[in-house]
Parts: sequence; structure tokens; C-alpha cells
Amino acid sequence: MSSCTPTYLTSTSPDESLILEFDLDDEGQPWYQVTWNGMPIVKKSYLGFELKDQAPLTGNFKVVGELRNTMNDTWSQPWGENKEVLDHHNELTVFLEEKDGAKRKMNIIFRLFNDGIGFRYEFPEQPNLKDFVIMNEKTQFVLNDNHDTWWIWADYDTYEKLYNHTDVDSATWVATPVTFKTKDNLYISLHEAALTDYAGMTLKLDDKKKYTYNATLVPWSNGDKVRTSAPMKTPWRTVQVGQKAADLVNSNIIVNLNEPSKIKDPSWIQPMQYLGIWWEFHIGTKEWKEGPRQGATTESAKKYIDFASENNIGGVVVEGWNSGWDKWGQKDAFDHITAAKGYDLDEVAAYAKEKGVYLIMHNETGGDIPAYEKYMDQAFKLYEELGIHALKTGYAGDIYPRGEHHHGQFMVNHYRKVVEKAAEHKIMLDAHEPIKPTGIRRTWPNMMTREGVRGMEWNGWSDGNPPNHTVTIPFTRMLGGPVDYTPGIFDVQYENNPDRVAWNTTAEIMNEARVHTTLVKQLALSIILYSPLQMAADLVENYEKDMEAFQFLSSSTADWEESKMLAGEIGEFAITARRSGKEWFLGAATDATGRAVSISLDFLEPNKVYKAIIYADAPGTTHLNDPKKYEITEKNVTSTEAMLIQMNAGGGAAIHFKILD
Ligand code: NOJ
Ligand code: CA
Repeated sequence: MSSCTPTYLTSTSPDESLILEFDLDDEGQPWYQVTWNGMPIVKKSYLGFELKDQAPLTGNFKVVGELRNTMNDTWSQPWGENKEVLDHHNELTVFLEEKDGAKRKMNIIFRLFNDGIGFRYEFPEQPNLKDFVIMNEKTQFVLNDNHDTWWIWADYDTYEKLYNHTDVDSATWVATPVTFKTKDNLYISLHEAALTDYAGMTLKLDDKKKYTYNATLVPWSNGDKVRTSAPMKTPWRTVQVGQKAADLVNSNIIVNLNEPSKIKDPSWIQPMQYLGIWWEFHIGTKEWKEGPRQGATTESAKKYIDFASENNIGGVVVEGWNSGWDKWGQKDAFDHITAAKGYDLDEVAAYAKEKGVYLIMHNETGGDIPAYEKYMDQAFKLYEELGIHALKTGYAGDIYPRGEHHHGQFMVNHYRKVVEKAAEHKIMLDAHEPIKPTGIRRTWPNMMTREGVRGMEWNGWSDGNPPNHTVTIPFTRMLGGPVDYTPGIFDVQYENNPDRVAWNTTAEIMNEARVHTTLVKQLALSIILYSPLQMAADLVENYEKDMEAFQFLSSSTADWEESKMLAGEIGEFAITARRSGKEWFLGAATDATGRAVSISLDFLEPNKVYKAIIYADAPGTTHLNDPKKYEITEKNVTSTEAMLIQMNAGGGAAIHFKILD
């Protein structure tokens, strides 16, 4: 290719709203920019890498070819917010090669959807780049203004934080997904898809260049970022765009940018709601460890299994089922095989099977990766033999080997190893303290759900999650994928459990702790906060005291065919409807401000009459005032109507629509 060959290339989304421009600058460094209907979304932003003991891949490139492709196809998920997913995009691959020297090759693949773009780097097999270490990914996202920004601080080990709402200037180092609203009321989110054998990406604001985020990868203990070898592809870097906040939520870009399923027969993978011996630990009425305050006993597990089977709840998780909790925090604390005294694993597993309930195992690793990798095989084999198909994992604590991080390549690879090993043993996974969701669930649909959020547990033993938190995460953290937030607490002020022992905080904080919502908002969150393993997190005895409200959860499901966020504003409110068969369930939740929002019922099937069973906060009820009080009313409705949804402060509404023949 001669020096006058054009290096400027463009591509558009199928509907031509998004335009991507690519070029090399005078030094041969690649850059890209993105506009939406003429408005700049990402301005001229550079691409490239710094490598260990090698010249950087930041310039001296020429374009040696381009390849274009279009995809317009619908694929089905074994489970998900929607059964059918449309993948409609244009793809442009730019083939780059260094002009001289080692003539290393690097390709950049862009995919343009109507609601955003993804791009990734590809290093093809080549003579002068074999094994290499990435010290810095030099990907930029240059925004065009000081947008409103919803973000959490970047952290190499945790996403369990409250969201900040500031301008870009103050959001100096953020985790992804990070969400923006422009002055023109456009919504933008930056994230990544298909994070595989690579480090997690954080975004750091440039000290000099305005509104410029630089990809900042989570390091290994020695400072390396990614240890790799060609051929390889990086994760996708994603830029989602929507005219409404809900558009970001309803987008399928992240799953579309992942590979199709590797599990040939996914029939053993079953979304479900679940209960658990769990909340009692967090509110401090029981302990994980063996002894007089032990939560997991054969008897208590059977009680949960009975309640689940009688009330259409699919599974039960039992934490503290194994020995080792007295050593939690130490190296080699758990073996994941030996049951605690007073807990007969064989008996409980057989009982669950007899009652048609999935027993969900729990493996807290305490971050001890060498120990877990040693026991995993044996443990998963045992669970499979016992007919157990679901597992919650946990990584609370610093990682062993010390110096590695939850979000670095070492752990990205560990988490994936667990997913693949679990798939071999037909085990569904729910990971706590995980790596962020990047759509891997498409490739490994046994990777059901994960925490990676400041979830319900924080309400048990801290100042908790304020009312705006749960109406922020649908537009931020959850753009990556499902969340195991564990909603469904009815006794929001722990009135039924006054004797709580502080186990990881002070007695004062413990005494003040509560769930900062109304009861009805908890029902709504079970719909809004999508999880294919969806917990009803309260104690069975609290549900037994209020079976009327529990009716909403027992008639609901975690297995949806269609989902729509109908309306919402980030950190203010969210209204989501989901369909299972012919029934629709709607959740509406608000922050600390009460509001009424009119919703068109045009999502219902036309020409049918539905009975709407409406669970609403009682008049005067707020998260601060009589939060457990609610009213249930019924009304016949059709798809041509609108419905005014009343949400009291810190509350919401939950509606079950049943077709009347
Ligand atoms: C933190 C998890 O998020 C929580 O669900 C679990 O109960 C504890 N770790 C103990 O494993
Ligand atoms: Ca946690």
C-alpha cells in the first residue's frame, strides 16, 4: 500500500444514526470517533498499547486492509430477560501493520449497532509478536462535554459501593459500567464485553486533556497488566447510546458481543427463585460457624425446603453448611466437602430432591484461590453425585496469592475456570465478590448471576443502601448483566428480630441498621433487579407472618420471555415489566421522592382483558413511615389503557397481570 492510500475509514450503524470514523494521525497512531445523528459521542480518541521490553504499539502504523460484514440475525437464549435477541450490526475490521522495524500486526474490529458500538483489538499470528506482556492499554474515550455522570470509584477488588452523581470532571477514576447524560438528554454508557483471559478495565480521567478517559487495566502483583500471546483478541470496549435512560437498559449489545453458547444441552440450566439460610447471618441472629448460634442445621434446612416446595420457590441456599467458618479469614480455612456438625448434607440433599427443590451449595473461598482450586474438582463431583445443580461462590477477603486482585487477569481466569468446571458437572453459578458481568452468560449460560454490587447484605450491618441506590443500579451496574442483589426483605426494620449481635461492625451501627425501603418496594425490586437466580431473601418466619404479600413472590418467577423497562430516570425511579407465558409482572420503584407515573399498558396482548392485582404502599406509607403497610387491589384492564402508577417515597408498586379468558 503506498503512502497516499487513504487511511480514513468510516462505518455506520444499520439505521445510520451512529457513524464511526477511523484514521491514523501523522505519526501513524490509530484513532476513532463516534457521532450519533451528528452529535459527538466520542471525539477523536487514540488507540494502542505499551508492551513490556518491546517498542509500544502506539504509532508507525499503516492500514493494510479492511473487511466489512453485516449481521442481521435473531438468536435464542436458554434464559434471559428476553428469549429472542436481535443481533443487527455492521462490522468493520481495520488491518494495521507497522511501517518498518518488526512490522507487527494489530487489527481493530468495530461493530456498530443501532444503540451503540463495540470495538476490540486483535493480534493475529505473526513472526515478530509471540508471547507478550501488555503494560498499558492506551484506549481513550474522549467525551465532548462535562456530562452528568453516575459512577463508583475504581477499585481493584470490589464493586460494593454507592454510586456518585457528579459531572465528568469529578469522576476521576471509575469502574465500568459508567453512565452519562448529556446536556442534549442523550444517555451514554461505557463498559466492556467478553472479558476473557485479560485484566478488567477501569477508566481514569486524563489530568490534562478535558473529559478524556484512559483505559487503566487492573495489574498483576508485579505490575504486568496482561500476559498473553498472539493470536489473541481483547475484550470489546463498548459505548452504548440511548435517547431515554431505559434504552440503555433494554439494549442487548453486551450479550451480542459474546460468543454463542458452548453448552450443547442446556436443559439442566433452570432459572428460579430461591430462599436461603442467609439473612440471619447478616442481621446477626445466627452465625455461620458451628456452635449454639449455628444457622445451618439439618432441621432448619428442611424447614426452608418445605416452605419453598409449598410456595412455588425453586431453590434454597444454605450458608454455613460446611466446616471451617471458625477459621474464616485464615489460609486453608475451608475444604468445601466436609459438612458442619449438626448438618447432614446427604439427608438434606435427598430431602430437597424428594420435595422437588434445588439445593444451592455455598463455597466461601475467603479469597484463598490455591485452596479452592485444589478442592473444586472433588467438591463439584460430590455435588453432582448428590444431584445438586447450583452453587453460590464467594471471594470475601484479599486474594491469595497476596498481591493479586479480584479484577486482574489472574482472577478473571480463575472465575472462568470455575464456570467451566461447574459446566462439566452441570452446576449453575452465582458468584459473589465476582468480576463484573460482561455478557459471558451467552457463552456459558450456567454463569447465571453474580453480586458485584453493594447488595442487600449492607442493610444488615451498615448504614445501608439509600432509597436511590436500587433505582441507580439498573442504569449502571446492571447494564453489564444480572445481579444477585437479593431483594425481598419484608421485615424492613428487623422488628421481629430485635436481638441482633454485631459481628462485623459496632453495636451502634447494627442497632441503627435497617432496609431503607417500604415492603412493597421490595416486591418491585424482585422484578426490576433481574436475576435468573432471584432470591427472596427474608427469613421464612417473616414470610409466614405475611403470606398475602408473599403471594406476589410465589406467583412470580425468575424465568422470563420478554422484558421492558417502561420508564425510568437514573437514581430517581424505574418501572419494568416482564412476561412469563401469558402473564406480566410489573415492578415500579422510586427514590426518597414519591411520584406518580402514567404508563401505557400497550405491552399487554391486544383484545384481551387482564386482571391486574396491584400491591401498593398504603396511603401515607413511606420508607420512613409505617414502611410495611400495603394495600392489594384488583382491576380489569386492557392494552389500550394507561395506568397511573403511584409510588410513595422510598416505595413503589408491584403488579401481577393475569389474562381473563
Ligand atoms: C459475602 C456475600 O456477599 C454474602 O452473600 C455471604 O453471605 C458472605 N460473603 C459469606 O460468604
Ligand atoms: Ca458481598
